[in-house]
Amino acid sequence: MKPKILVHGGAGEWNVEPKTVEQARGEMKAAVIEGLRIMKKGSSVDAVVAAITLMEDSGKFNAGSGAYPNIEYDIELDAGLMDGRTLGAGAVASVRNVPNPVELARKIMTDTRHVLISGRGAEILAKGYGLYSKLKVDKARKDIINRRMKQYISKEKWIRTLPVKYRLPPVRDTIGAVAIDENGNLAAATSTGGTAFKLPGRIGDSPVCGAGFYAMNGKGAVSATGEGEDIMRYSLSSRVVWDLDGRVDPYMVLIRELQEMKRLFGRGSAGAIVLDSRGNCGAYATTRAMAVAGCSQNAVISEVVESVGIDSVQEKLRRL
Ligand code: GLY
Repeated sequence: MKPKILVHGGAGEWNVEPKTVEQARGEMKAAVIEGLRIMKKGSSVDAVVAAITLMEDSGKFNAGSGAYPNIEYDIELDAGLMDGRTLGAGAVASVRNVPNPVELARKIMTDTRHVLISGRGAEILAKGYGLYSKLKVDKARKDIINRRMKQYISKEKWIRTLPVKYRLPPVRDTIGAVAIDENGNLAAATSTGGTAFKLPGRIGDSPVCGAGFYAMNGKGAVSATGEGEDIMRYSLSSRVVWDLDGRVDPYMVLIRELQEMKRLFGRGSAGAIVLDSRGNCGAYATTRAMAVAGCSQNAVISEVVESVGIDSVQEKLRRL
């Protein structure tokens, strides 16, 4: 099997400066190259963790040090991963001051008998593993957000209107990776700060096995992005993986599931990347745009693409 890795930098609006898009493309490219390098010496699990860790550290995505804060301006992170060979999974939710929650999720998978640990318990574990350190926040972003928050709190009664009314920045969402190694072992990982201005303690799809990520050898691996509430209610990642059998085109499966989700919920709110057991790739979103990158020994691509033009990226992914 030819090793391959895909990452996404989130589905969403991506109505940002061209410079931001270029930075995101550069970071995703570095992440897939590093993931492939690590996979040559290790496994698909090593690869997805390495790629996600780089992207968490970049500060350019809604994850790790770039994560959006909650309504109290605390950063609460969610992450999860799955090993398709063993069906082992690990995840952390609503964890603070753990810059690389994907590393902690991996420890939960390998070192505990649990799958998902949240909040204080996860932070205690992080301290034990040397994964706990104060997350620095972007001062400029913090000031803008605090100002808007104060406006909101003084004027609004209903918390739900906040992101719409003040055009808070849900421009992009979440990072994720899927990989297949030379032994055909699949892995998936997802990491996020969650939705901007979420309520404290809100947990999205990213640390929920079957919703934000899923991997099963012989079938496929998926990482999802978008509105966590919709993705959880649809169980997006496990649905896609269960539809794969090495014969159907994973891109067509993604389109079918995401369009069905859009029909049911009445809005296009999600995206995903997929690899099947034969190394066939797919990326698709029903949001306005999506950031995606991929790498094999043949080629590397990294794009932020409007969903209407996502077929062009799919053509490049097919050549990996
Ligand atoms: N998809 C990330 C979240 O909703 O938290």
